[in-house]
Parts: sequence; C-alpha cells; structure tokens
Amino acid sequence: SLPVPNVQEMERSNPMQVPERYIRNQEDMPKTTDAIHLSCEIPVIDLSLLSNGHKEELKKLELACEEWGFFQVVNHGVAEEVLQGMKYSASEFFELPLQEKNKYAMASDDIQGYGQAFVVSEEQKLDWSDILVLVIYPTRFRKLKFWPNAPKEFKEKIEVYSNEVKRVGEELLCSLSLIMGMDKDTLLGLHKEFVQALRVNYYPTCSIPDQVLGVSPHSDTSILTILMQDDDVTGLQIKHSGEWVPVKPIPNALVVNIGDVIEIWSNGKYRSIEHRAVTNKNRARISFASFILPHDDVEIEPFDHLVDSQQPIKIYKKVRYGDYLRHSMKRKMEGKFHTEMEM
Ligand code: SIN
Ligand code: FE2
Repeated sequence: SLPVPNVQEMERSNPMQVPERYIRNQEDMPKTTDAIHLSCEIPVIDLSLLSNGHKEELKKLELACEEWGFFQVVNHGVAEEVLQGMKYSASEFFELPLQEKNKYAMASDDIQGYGQAFVVSEEQKLDWSDILVLVIYPTRFRKLKFWPNAPKEFKEKIEVYSNEVKRVGEELLCSLSLIMGMDKDTLLGLHKEFVQALRVNYYPTCSIPDQVLGVSPHSDTSILTILMQDDDVTGLQIKHSGEWVPVKPIPNALVVNIGDVIEIWSNGKYRSIEHRAVTNKNRARISFASFILPHDDVEIEPFDHLVDSQQPIKIYKKVRYGDYLRHSMKRKMEGKFHTEMEM
C-alpha cells in the first residue's frame, strides 16, 4: 500500500481544495439525483421477532436476502448507550491531532491500524476517508498496539460494542440457517470459530461531494457485515435494480449485508451487493463496519441442497477462503473494485 495524504488533515488545512486524485471520472461521479432516489427503501427486520422464530419475520428476511442483500435491523437488543458511547469515543479519537493518531498508523504491509486503504498506484482514484481497522475476534488475533489509548474509554467501548455485534451476528446466522432450509445451528457449527474485524470509517466534509466518493463501489468479502452508521448523516448507497439507492439512517438501527461467502454458500440465491459511500458538504460522517469472516484455511463452496431446480449447476467452485481473499484483493489492486464471483 502506497502512502497517501491524511484526508482529514487535508480538508482541515484547505477545505476548498480537492486534489485531482480524488475527482472521479464522469461515469463514477455520484449524481445528486441518487440521493433523492428515495422511492424504494431497504427492508427493516425486527431481530427480536426473528430470534423468537416468528414465521412472518423469517419470510421477510428471506425476501430481503433474495431481493436486496441488505436490510436494517431494529430491536436488536444492543443498548442505545453502547451504540452512542462507541460513536462518541470514535469521534473524539478522530478529533485528536494527527501525530496522536499516527501512533497507531497502519504499516504498508498490514491491514490493521489507522490510515487509508488499498492504495497501489499513483493513478488510482482515492477515497475521501480515513480508517481505523482492528481485528477483534478471536482475541488471540488482536494486535493491541493498534488499539487507541485515547480517548481513555475507547478500547472498552470497542470491546463492549463488538461483543454485542458478535451476538447479533450469531442470531442472524441462526435465522439464515433456517431460511436456507437447514437446522438453526448449521451455519454457526460449520467452523470452529469466526473472525470478526472492525473498520471505522471517517469521512471528512467535502466541498464537492458530487465529484468524490467516500468509499469506492465494492462488495464485501465477508460472511455478513454489520454496520452502525450515523443517525442523521446519509452516506451509504447500494446498487439495487441498476440504481444507487441511499440507505436512510434509522436511529439506533444496524445495517446488515450479505457478504460474498453467503453468496457462495447459497449458490447465488442470496447476493453480495455492490455498495459505496458518498461524502457530504456540511457534516463529517463516521460509520462502523463489523465483518464476520471465516478463517483463512477453511474451504467455502455452495451447499449441495442449494444446487436445486432453481439453480441446477454449482456456480462457484470450492475455494480456500484465504485464497479467495487474496484473489479479490488482487482484483482490487488491478482497479477492479468489485469482486468477480465467477472464478
Ligand atoms: C463500506 O461499506 O465500506 C462503508 C459503508 C459506509 O460507510 O456506510
Ligand atoms: Fe462494504
């Protein structure tokens, strides 16, 4: 990964100046009309109903997975103070002087720490964001040198929030097992344990938001991604029926999306949807993406029973997850920012 400027510092020192490397080609620029495309909204799922086995809610989840790949989760049981505490601590962290944040700087050959992601060429268009990435689970994978010591309570907030997200993820995997026609515990029991990583995205304000992207279009290589976004600043957009649809924040809801691994497991029945983040003229935005991932050494392939009359061929080959990850990273480095699924 090549070094690039810190976006927050750049914006702070010269708010009207946006370097060429951040200005998208015409066809990639977010149109202001995208943001007012509110005629359709992504499904909202009640986790307490789901976890109590409500048939109708399971049906809603199934439809959400088949038709959207994205949904918002309410009644998830994560206390508001846990969500707000995390947001508050993170915004305090990003307000620290650069020198302080750089104590946790990402090394060029690592994905953990504070910095910017996937920079491989001088020509590459850059995202208008800074990030903090931490591996949370299993705990033996943690690299504590990247866990910020300031603000004082941040580590604790990350720990508590992530533990709640883990629980939400497990409940969702139970329901996903059911809608995939398996026993409730099948997906959870598939591997000894999952990996959970946290990526905190900081999007500074941008003077020309319709020419810049906060995060380039991509699909997630995860099993599931659980996102906490800002309560009142919109930024996330998903590709739905050929259009970019904004995910309007519902206060205290979590946004969940199906990752590439579920797309493979389900033999393409549930799709890992392309999404991106746009920036904003007046308000900085922070989002928290928790990725539930397999271990590198496990093999991923479609479930036999989902190679069915609806999709009679196995459309994905068996692949070691670590190889899959490397393959999709390589594609990102070649500038193909969404994952090619047919391997
Ligand atoms: C991402 O998907 O990488 C970021 C999404 C967001 O900031 O809303
Ligand atoms: Fe994503």
